[in-house]
Amino acid sequence: MTHSPHDAHALHGVGVVVVAAGSGSRLGADRPKAFVRLDGETILEHALVRALAAGAARVVLVVPAELVEEAQGFLDLHAGCGCGDPVVVPGGAERGDSVAAGLAVLGEDIDVVLVHDAARCLTPAVVYERVVAAVRAGAAGAVPGLPVVDTIKIVDDDGVITATPARSTLRAVQTPQGFQLGLLREAHASGRQATDDAALVEQLGHDVVVVEGDPLGFKITDQEDLRRARSLLAQDGR
Ligand code: CTP
Ligand code: MG
Repeated sequence: MTHSPHDAHALHGVGVVVVAAGSGSRLGADRPKAFVRLDGETILEHALVRALAAGAARVVLVVPAELVEEAQGFLDLHAGCGCGDPVVVPGGAERGDSVAAGLAVLGEDIDVVLVHDAARCLTPAVVYERVVAAVRAGAAGAVPGLPVVDTIKIVDDDGVITATPARSTLRAVQTPQGFQLGLLREAHASGRQATDDAALVEQLGHDVVVVEGDPLGFKITDQEDLRRARSLLAQDGR
């Protein structure tokens, strides 16, 4: 029998925390971003079906408190495979608070956690697998990333350029970001703030590696991104 990486429970001991509790202020829709429809389905449902397809042992959806019930309905619709042991919890004011709420409900059977932005809802399952493989190979953490195409400048408060890092050393990173669960819990307990989870683990002094990301892992932030996601789905029904 061939063993497909997409078999249910292929990611043994892996929990996925999908953070979807943001308001989406830059998108400017009439509901929180994850609850905006792309086609017949919402951004959150697209993220959920791909997280389930990756074969994680547990999937946690973190959503605005007033939308917990609606998100439970998505589980009834999409979790019929009996995989992923999915659960919904309310999030917090900052993204870090929402991640912490998700980490809190992972049980002792989970030793590797992936934190994923619902807003990166078209991320293919193969990216999950690359991240898990790197953590299973011994990395404290692993994040998907892509080379940057623009030259990046570091500027001071007056807009004066103070440095130009060599482009070959730069990566634009995405999610899911994967970690040894104990380390990410420790990192969040430190109370530090950061723009991604990797930065918290880096600050603890651990090595986080970058694995190959995917262009489909882009984050829906504004209306232009929403149009792009809708048109990709309309083209080939990913
Ligand atoms: N997120 C969350 N809880 C928060 C803030 C953000 O779970 N308090 C989630 C978002 O739902 C999103 C991911 O973190 O899936 C990345 O955040 P971002 O793209 O910035 O989403 P929003 O914060 O909702 O958007 P904006 O910053 O435009 O308001
Ligand atoms: Mg935000």
